[in-house]
Amino acid sequence: MTSYKDLGLVNTRAMFAKAVKGGYAIPAYNFNNMEQLQAIIMACVETKSPVILQVSRGARDYANINLLRNMARGACEYAHELGYDIPIVLHLDHGNSFEVCKECIDNGFSSVMIDGSALSYEENVAVTRKVVEYAHQFDVTVEGELGVLAGIEDEVQAAESHYTRPEDVIDFVEKTGVDSLAISIGTSHGANKFTPEQCKRNADGILIPPPLRFDILAEIEKKLPGFPIVLHGSSSVPQEFVKMINEHGGKLKDSVGIPEEQLRQAAKSAVCKINIDSDGRLAMTGTIRRVLDEKPSEFDPRKYLGPAREALKEMYMHKNRDVLGSAGQA
Ligand code: G3H
Ligand code: 13P
Ligand code: ZN
Repeated sequence: MTSYKDLGLVNTRAMFAKAVKGGYAIPAYNFNNMEQLQAIIMACVETKSPVILQVSRGARDYANINLLRNMARGACEYAHELGYDIPIVLHLDHGNSFEVCKECIDNGFSSVMIDGSALSYEENVAVTRKVVEYAHQFDVTVEGELGVLAGIEDEVQAAESHYTRPEDVIDFVEKTGVDSLAISIGTSHGANKFTPEQCKRNADGILIPPPLRFDILAEIEKKLPGFPIVLHGSSSVPQEFVKMINEHGGKLKDSVGIPEEQLRQAAKSAVCKINIDSDGRLAMTGTIRRVLDEKPSEFDPRKYLGPAREALKEMYMHKNRDVLGSAGQA
Protein backbone atom coordinates (compact mmCIF):
# COMPACT_ATOMS: atom_id res chain seq x y z
CA MET A 1 0.00 0.00 0.00
CA THR A 2 1.42 3.40 -0.98
CA SER A 3 -0.14 6.51 0.51
CA TYR A 4 -0.37 9.49 -1.81
CA LYS A 5 0.71 11.63 1.11
CA ASP A 6 4.17 10.05 0.94
CA LEU A 7 4.42 10.99 -2.74
CA GLY A 8 3.82 14.71 -2.13
CA LEU A 9 0.29 14.65 -3.59
CA VAL A 10 -2.95 16.09 -2.18
CA ASN A 11 -6.60 15.06 -2.51
CA THR A 12 -9.20 17.35 -4.09
CA ARG A 13 -11.11 18.45 -0.97
CA ALA A 14 -9.47 21.76 -0.04
CA MET A 15 -8.70 22.56 -3.67
CA PHE A 16 -12.36 22.23 -4.72
CA ALA A 17 -13.70 24.20 -1.76
CA LYS A 18 -11.40 27.09 -2.69
CA ALA A 19 -12.25 26.87 -6.39
CA VAL A 20 -16.02 26.89 -5.83
CA LYS A 21 -15.72 29.97 -3.61
CA GLY A 22 -13.24 31.66 -5.94
CA GLY A 23 -15.23 31.16 -9.16
CA TYR A 24 -12.60 29.23 -11.11
CA ALA A 25 -12.01 25.60 -12.12
CA ILE A 26 -9.02 23.33 -11.57
CA PRO A 27 -7.55 21.92 -14.79
CA ALA A 28 -7.71 18.13 -15.04
CA TYR A 29 -5.27 17.23 -17.80
CA ASN A 30 -4.76 13.63 -18.93
CA PHE A 31 -1.24 12.28 -19.36
CA ASN A 32 0.25 9.08 -20.75
CA ASN A 33 3.94 9.92 -21.17
CA MET A 34 6.81 12.06 -19.93
CA GLU A 35 6.48 14.95 -22.36
CA GLN A 36 2.79 15.47 -21.57
CA LEU A 37 3.53 15.40 -17.85
CA GLN A 38 6.45 17.82 -18.19
CA ALA A 39 4.29 20.24 -20.18
CA ILE A 40 1.48 20.11 -17.60
CA ILE A 41 3.84 20.73 -14.68
CA MET A 42 5.81 23.48 -16.45
CA ALA A 43 2.59 25.26 -17.46
CA CYS A 44 0.97 24.96 -14.03
CA VAL A 45 4.09 26.06 -12.14
CA GLU A 46 4.59 29.02 -14.47
CA THR A 47 0.96 30.11 -14.05
CA LYS A 48 0.89 29.13 -10.35
CA SER A 49 -2.13 26.89 -10.87
CA PRO A 50 -3.22 23.83 -8.87
CA VAL A 51 -3.56 20.80 -11.13
CA ILE A 52 -5.17 17.37 -11.40
CA LEU A 53 -3.10 14.80 -13.27
CA GLN A 54 -5.56 12.37 -14.84
CA VAL A 55 -4.83 8.76 -15.64
CA SER A 56 -7.40 6.87 -17.67
CA ARG A 57 -7.67 3.09 -17.72
CA GLY A 58 -6.17 3.27 -21.20
CA ALA A 59 -3.22 5.25 -19.81
CA ARG A 60 -2.70 2.64 -17.09
CA ASP A 61 -2.56 -0.13 -19.68
CA TYR A 62 -0.26 1.93 -21.88
CA ALA A 63 2.18 3.26 -19.30
CA ASN A 64 2.05 0.91 -16.26
CA ILE A 65 0.67 1.95 -12.89
CA ASN A 66 4.03 1.74 -11.08
CA LEU A 67 5.66 4.03 -13.59
CA LEU A 68 2.72 6.44 -13.47
CA ARG A 69 2.80 6.63 -9.67
CA ASN A 70 6.50 7.38 -9.68
CA MET A 71 6.05 9.90 -12.46
CA ALA A 72 3.52 11.71 -10.25
CA ARG A 73 6.00 11.65 -7.36
CA GLY A 74 8.61 13.01 -9.77
CA ALA A 75 6.16 15.70 -10.89
CA CYS A 76 5.90 16.99 -7.31
CA GLU A 77 9.69 17.09 -7.01
CA TYR A 78 9.98 18.69 -10.45
CA ALA A 79 7.53 21.47 -9.48
CA HIS A 80 9.58 22.07 -6.34
CA GLU A 81 12.75 22.25 -8.40
CA LEU A 82 11.08 24.72 -10.77
CA GLY A 83 10.59 26.95 -7.75
CA TYR A 84 6.90 26.65 -6.77
CA ASP A 85 5.11 23.84 -4.90
CA ILE A 86 1.71 23.76 -6.58
CA PRO A 87 -0.95 21.36 -5.19
CA ILE A 88 -0.92 18.23 -7.37
CA VAL A 89 -3.62 15.50 -7.43
CA LEU A 90 -3.17 12.08 -9.06
CA HIS A 91 -6.65 11.07 -10.23
CA LEU A 92 -8.10 7.94 -11.84
CA ASP A 93 -10.26 9.02 -14.78
CA HIS A 94 -13.36 6.89 -15.54
CA GLY A 95 -12.73 4.02 -13.13
CA ASN A 96 -15.31 1.38 -14.09
CA SER A 97 -15.30 -0.94 -11.08
CA PHE A 98 -14.57 -1.07 -7.36
CA GLU A 99 -11.49 -3.23 -8.09
CA VAL A 100 -9.94 -0.69 -10.49
CA CYS A 101 -10.52 2.15 -8.01
CA LYS A 102 -9.10 0.10 -5.12
CA GLU A 103 -5.99 -0.76 -7.10
CA CYS A 104 -5.36 2.93 -7.79
CA ILE A 105 -6.01 3.93 -4.16
CA ASP A 106 -3.59 1.21 -3.01
CA ASN A 107 -1.04 2.50 -5.51
CA GLY A 108 -0.85 6.11 -4.38
CA PHE A 109 -3.68 7.86 -6.24
CA SER A 110 -5.13 10.72 -4.20
CA SER A 111 -8.46 10.82 -6.02
CA VAL A 112 -10.54 8.39 -8.08
CA MET A 113 -13.55 8.61 -10.34
CA ILE A 114 -16.05 5.78 -10.25
CA ASP A 115 -18.01 6.09 -13.45
CA GLY A 116 -21.21 4.14 -12.95
CA SER A 117 -23.08 6.22 -15.50
CA ALA A 118 -23.64 3.22 -17.78
CA LEU A 119 -25.34 1.28 -14.94
CA SER A 120 -28.86 1.57 -13.59
CA TYR A 121 -29.31 4.33 -11.00
CA GLU A 122 -29.42 1.80 -8.14
CA GLU A 123 -26.28 0.00 -9.35
CA ASN A 124 -24.48 3.32 -9.80
CA VAL A 125 -25.36 4.29 -6.21
CA ALA A 126 -24.22 0.91 -4.87
CA VAL A 127 -20.81 0.78 -6.58
CA THR A 128 -20.12 4.47 -5.90
CA ARG A 129 -20.99 4.01 -2.21
CA LYS A 130 -18.63 1.03 -2.01
CA VAL A 131 -15.75 3.01 -3.55
CA VAL A 132 -16.39 5.98 -1.22
CA GLU A 133 -16.37 3.72 1.86
CA TYR A 134 -12.99 2.30 0.87
CA ALA A 135 -11.44 5.56 -0.38
CA HIS A 136 -12.39 7.66 2.63
CA GLN A 137 -10.52 5.32 4.99
CA PHE A 138 -7.36 6.64 3.32
CA ASP A 139 -8.55 10.23 2.83
CA VAL A 140 -8.78 9.68 -0.94
CA THR A 141 -11.52 11.74 -2.59
CA VAL A 142 -14.10 10.29 -4.98
CA GLU A 143 -15.85 11.68 -8.08
CA GLY A 144 -19.12 10.08 -9.15
CA GLU A 145 -21.14 10.62 -12.33
CA LEU A 146 -24.81 11.08 -13.10
CA GLY A 147 -26.03 11.43 -16.67
CA VAL A 148 -24.25 10.15 -19.78
CA LEU A 149 -21.85 11.98 -22.09
CA ALA A 150 -21.72 11.01 -25.74
CA GLY A 151 -18.44 10.35 -27.51
CA ILE A 152 -16.06 7.56 -28.26
CA GLU A 153 -12.50 7.22 -27.07
CA ASP A 154 -10.40 4.14 -26.39
CA GLU A 155 -12.27 2.89 -23.36
CA VAL A 156 -14.94 5.51 -22.77
CA GLN A 157 -17.85 4.97 -25.09
CA ALA A 158 -21.45 6.06 -25.38
CA ALA A 159 -23.36 6.72 -28.56
CA GLU A 160 -25.91 9.10 -27.05
CA SER A 161 -25.90 11.57 -24.24
CA HIS A 162 -28.48 11.87 -21.47
CA TYR A 163 -28.50 15.06 -19.48
CA THR A 164 -28.20 14.78 -15.72
CA ARG A 165 -31.60 14.90 -14.02
CA PRO A 166 -31.43 17.61 -11.33
CA GLU A 167 -34.09 15.73 -9.34
CA ASP A 168 -31.60 12.87 -8.75
CA VAL A 169 -28.57 14.77 -7.50
CA ILE A 170 -29.42 15.24 -3.81
CA ASP A 171 -30.38 11.60 -3.40
CA PHE A 172 -27.21 10.43 -5.21
CA VAL A 173 -24.85 12.61 -3.20
CA GLU A 174 -26.51 11.72 0.11
CA LYS A 175 -26.60 7.99 -0.56
CA THR A 176 -23.05 7.71 -1.93
CA GLY A 177 -21.09 10.31 0.04
CA VAL A 178 -19.14 11.38 -3.08
CA ASP A 179 -16.87 14.41 -2.87
CA SER A 180 -17.70 15.72 -6.34
CA LEU A 181 -20.18 15.00 -9.11
CA ALA A 182 -19.60 14.83 -12.88
CA ILE A 183 -22.68 15.95 -14.79
CA SER A 184 -23.86 15.88 -18.38
CA ILE A 185 -25.00 19.24 -19.78
CA GLY A 186 -24.01 18.97 -23.43
CA THR A 187 -20.27 18.30 -23.47
CA SER A 188 -18.99 15.07 -25.01
CA HIS A 189 -15.76 13.09 -25.22
CA GLY A 190 -13.26 13.16 -28.06
CA ALA A 191 -12.29 15.58 -30.85
CA ASN A 192 -15.54 15.15 -32.79
CA LYS A 193 -18.04 16.83 -30.56
CA PHE A 194 -20.14 18.76 -33.07
CA THR A 195 -20.27 18.66 -36.86
CA PRO A 196 -20.34 21.99 -38.71
CA GLU A 197 -23.99 21.17 -39.61
CA GLN A 198 -24.94 21.19 -35.93
CA CYS A 199 -23.48 24.72 -35.49
CA LYS A 200 -24.40 28.27 -36.42
CA ARG A 201 -21.97 30.82 -37.86
CA ASN A 202 -21.47 34.07 -35.95
CA ALA A 203 -20.81 37.45 -37.62
CA ASP A 204 -17.09 36.60 -37.94
CA GLY A 205 -17.89 33.31 -39.68
CA ILE A 206 -16.88 31.24 -36.66
CA LEU A 207 -18.90 28.06 -36.04
CA ILE A 208 -20.76 28.17 -32.73
CA PRO A 209 -22.16 24.87 -31.41
CA PRO A 210 -25.41 24.52 -29.46
CA PRO A 211 -24.86 26.10 -26.03
CA LEU A 212 -24.29 24.00 -22.94
CA ARG A 213 -27.39 23.50 -20.77
CA PHE A 214 -26.61 26.18 -18.20
CA ASP A 215 -30.24 25.93 -17.05
CA ILE A 216 -29.62 22.34 -15.88
CA LEU A 217 -26.37 23.40 -14.19
CA ALA A 218 -28.23 26.20 -12.38
CA GLU A 219 -30.90 23.77 -11.15
CA ILE A 220 -28.23 21.37 -9.90
CA GLU A 221 -26.45 24.21 -8.09
CA LYS A 222 -29.72 25.21 -6.46
CA LYS A 223 -30.19 21.66 -5.16
CA LEU A 224 -26.57 21.29 -4.00
CA PRO A 225 -25.33 24.75 -3.06
CA GLY A 226 -21.52 24.93 -3.06
CA PHE A 227 -21.10 21.25 -3.98
CA PRO A 228 -18.18 20.59 -6.38
CA ILE A 229 -19.35 19.87 -9.93
CA VAL A 230 -17.15 18.37 -12.67
CA LEU A 231 -17.31 18.83 -16.44
CA HIS A 232 -15.93 16.07 -18.64
CA GLY A 233 -15.50 16.35 -22.40
CA SER A 234 -14.37 19.96 -22.24
CA SER A 235 -11.85 20.20 -25.04
CA SER A 236 -12.29 23.21 -27.31
CA VAL A 237 -10.76 21.49 -30.38
CA PRO A 238 -8.43 24.38 -31.35
CA GLN A 239 -8.81 24.88 -35.09
CA GLU A 240 -5.13 25.84 -35.49
CA PHE A 241 -4.13 22.29 -34.50
CA VAL A 242 -6.84 20.61 -36.60
CA LYS A 243 -5.52 22.65 -39.56
CA MET A 244 -1.90 21.83 -38.70
CA ILE A 245 -2.69 18.11 -38.64
CA ASN A 246 -4.52 18.23 -41.97
CA GLU A 247 -1.88 20.43 -43.64
CA HIS A 248 0.83 17.96 -42.75
CA GLY A 249 -0.62 14.70 -43.98
CA GLY A 250 -3.40 14.10 -41.43
CA LYS A 251 -7.07 13.48 -42.17
CA LEU A 252 -9.25 14.85 -39.40
CA LYS A 253 -12.92 15.52 -39.95
CA ASP A 254 -14.16 19.10 -39.51
CA SER A 255 -15.09 19.34 -35.89
CA VAL A 256 -16.05 21.92 -33.31
CA GLY A 257 -15.38 21.79 -29.57
CA ILE A 258 -16.75 23.57 -26.51
CA PRO A 259 -16.24 27.33 -26.94
CA GLU A 260 -13.82 28.80 -24.41
CA GLU A 261 -16.32 31.47 -23.31
CA GLN A 262 -18.78 28.76 -22.26
CA LEU A 263 -16.11 26.98 -20.24
CA ARG A 264 -15.18 30.30 -18.63
CA GLN A 265 -18.83 30.81 -17.72
CA ALA A 266 -19.06 27.28 -16.27
CA ALA A 267 -15.85 27.78 -14.27
CA LYS A 268 -17.41 30.78 -12.54
CA SER A 269 -20.17 28.52 -11.17
CA ALA A 270 -19.90 25.43 -8.95
CA VAL A 271 -18.00 23.71 -11.77
CA CYS A 272 -14.60 23.34 -10.14
CA LYS A 273 -12.91 20.66 -12.30
CA ILE A 274 -12.73 20.77 -16.08
CA ASN A 275 -11.43 17.70 -17.95
CA ILE A 276 -9.28 18.21 -21.03
CA ASP A 277 -7.58 15.41 -22.93
CA SER A 278 -8.34 15.68 -26.65
CA ASP A 279 -6.89 19.19 -27.04
CA GLY A 280 -3.56 17.87 -25.76
CA ARG A 281 -3.68 15.07 -28.31
CA LEU A 282 -4.38 17.55 -31.10
CA ALA A 283 -1.58 19.95 -30.07
CA MET A 284 0.92 17.13 -29.76
CA THR A 285 0.00 15.36 -33.00
CA GLY A 286 -0.19 18.60 -35.00
CA THR A 287 3.26 19.70 -33.87
CA ILE A 288 4.88 16.32 -34.42
CA ARG A 289 3.38 16.09 -37.91
CA ARG A 290 4.58 19.60 -38.75
CA VAL A 291 8.15 18.97 -37.61
CA LEU A 292 8.42 15.61 -39.38
CA ASP A 293 6.93 17.07 -42.56
CA GLU A 294 9.26 20.09 -42.53
CA LYS A 295 12.36 18.08 -41.60
CA PRO A 296 11.98 14.67 -43.25
CA SER A 297 15.53 13.62 -42.38
CA GLU A 298 15.00 14.15 -38.64
CA PHE A 299 15.03 10.95 -36.59
CA ASP A 300 15.89 12.11 -33.08
CA PRO A 301 12.61 11.84 -31.09
CA ARG A 302 13.65 14.80 -28.93
CA LYS A 303 13.57 17.01 -32.01
CA TYR A 304 9.83 16.45 -32.52
CA LEU A 305 8.71 15.62 -28.98
CA GLY A 306 10.46 18.75 -27.65
CA PRO A 307 8.46 21.15 -29.87
CA ALA A 308 5.29 19.14 -29.10
CA ARG A 309 5.96 19.60 -25.38
CA GLU A 310 6.41 23.34 -25.93
CA ALA A 311 3.09 23.58 -27.83
CA LEU A 312 1.33 21.69 -25.04
CA LYS A 313 2.81 23.96 -22.40
CA GLU A 314 1.67 27.11 -24.23
CA MET A 315 -1.83 25.70 -24.65
CA TYR A 316 -2.17 24.68 -20.99
CA MET A 317 -0.92 28.10 -19.85
CA HIS A 318 -3.56 29.76 -22.01
CA LYS A 319 -6.29 27.55 -20.56
CA ASN A 320 -5.23 28.21 -16.97
CA ARG A 321 -5.01 31.95 -17.51
CA ASP A 322 -7.81 32.74 -19.94
CA VAL A 323 -10.36 29.91 -19.70
CA LEU A 324 -10.40 28.15 -16.32
CA GLY A 325 -9.16 31.08 -14.25
CA SER A 326 -6.92 28.83 -12.16
CA ALA A 327 -3.75 30.86 -12.77
CA GLY A 328 -2.44 32.49 -9.60
CA GLN A 329 -4.60 30.27 -7.36
CA ALA A 330 -1.89 27.85 -6.14
O1 G3H B 1 -12.45 10.58 -21.00
C1 G3H B 1 -11.60 9.86 -21.49
C2 G3H B 1 -10.20 10.27 -21.63
O2 G3H B 1 -10.06 11.20 -22.66
C3 G3H B 1 -9.28 9.08 -21.74
O3 G3H B 1 -9.26 8.50 -22.98
O4 G3H B 1 -9.27 6.02 -22.58
O5 G3H B 1 -8.34 7.01 -24.70
O6 G3H B 1 -7.09 7.26 -22.56
P1 G3H B 1 -8.46 7.10 -23.21
P1 13P C 1 -12.12 15.68 -24.00
O1 13P C 1 -12.18 14.49 -24.90
O2 13P C 1 -13.11 16.73 -24.42
O3 13P C 1 -10.74 16.25 -23.89
O4 13P C 1 -12.57 15.20 -22.54
C1 13P C 1 -11.67 14.54 -21.71
C2 13P C 1 -12.32 13.93 -20.52
O5 13P C 1 -13.46 14.15 -20.18
C3 13P C 1 -11.49 13.02 -19.71
O6 13P C 1 -12.22 12.42 -18.69
ZN1 ZN D 1 -14.26 12.03 -19.23
